[in-house]
Amino acid sequence: KQHIAEVEAFKTESAKEVEAFRIKYLGKKGILNDFFASFKQVPNEQKKEFGQTINALKKASEAKVAALKENLESKQEEKGIYGDLSRPGEPIEIGARHPISIVKNQIIEIFSNIGFNVSEGPEMEDDWHNFTALNLPEYHPARDMQDTFFIQTDPDILLRTHTSSVQVRYMENNQPPIRTISPGRVFRNEAISSRSHCIFHQVEGLYIDKNVSFADLKQTLLYFTKQLFGKSKIRLRPSYFPFTEPSAEVDIYWGLETETDYRITKGTGWLEIMGCGMVDPNVLKNCNIDPTEYSGFAFGMGIERIAMLLYQIGDIRMFYENDIRFLEQFKSSF
Ligand code: PHE
Repeated sequence: KQHIAEVEAFKTESAKEVEAFRIKYLGKKGILNDFFASFKQVPNEQKKEFGQTINALKKASEAKVAALKENLESKQEEKGIYGDLSRPGEPIEIGARHPISIVKNQIIEIFSNIGFNVSEGPEMEDDWHNFTALNLPEYHPARDMQDTFFIQTDPDILLRTHTSSVQVRYMENNQPPIRTISPGRVFRNEAISSRSHCIFHQVEGLYIDKNVSFADLKQTLLYFTKQLFGKSKIRLRPSYFPFTEPSAEVDIYWGLETETDYRITKGTGWLEIMGCGMVDPNVLKNCNIDPTEYSGFAFGMGIERIAMLLYQIGDIRMFYENDIRFLEQFKSSF
């Protein structure tokens, strides 16, 4: 009877202990077999009660082993569903921002610090916003400067070749003072090589107010290059854009800095980084801004070209291949 109480109180969640318990009571040399073997020696008048008790013990032991096994199995199943909750977690892989986004965000920050906001527009444009309003009428030869993708069914609709189109839209909807930069994707029907791609990114800037001069443009460029590249040795080369007059190309000096600087640099050390100029009065007129009252400057740069310079990347196609070994090198707070 004491054994029955012990059996009923027994608890465990270990498979080993369940088996030891089974052997102790129900095994060949177990307690129950001992009792059965000693049955003969029990005096006749006690046989009935003795028999009933060991039968009760047998039943209790069998029931206990069955219950413990079932409990173990259900624990096993839970593990199957939830996994082993005590295992350490899988490490989380932290992604990196795309280098084009990093440089774009840096440029935005530099210009927002001097009061420029960010404007955006559609990648699919009409002829007016991409060309005509920018002083590039229909048969103007300068349209060939930017090989254009047209939408086959409609010659008036095209993929924008620059984000100057966004500036036209901005001027149409806002009167000066205007200080805005327009980052975005642009498209040109060009052969793909290590230096150029048919899709790339630009940031263009526009500043219009009373009495804006070329000196303001130059100071802005000096500030910008100093902030982004940490140096502002730049030069302006006279150039031509239909929407600016005068126009210039901006070069940054990327050559040797001192007599002890032994980096290998190619050419003269001057690298072109952007185009700029004073907004042509015709463009202001096209956008309902009075050129007798206002003047302004504009500039535009390719983000890929700047990123290639900053990170010393030799092939523009790397930006679009989504190779994780390339992308994961750009961990940045921008
Ligand atoms: N829109 C010109 C380009 O895409 C860049 C530019 C912008 C030049 C503004 C001058 C002024 O090449």
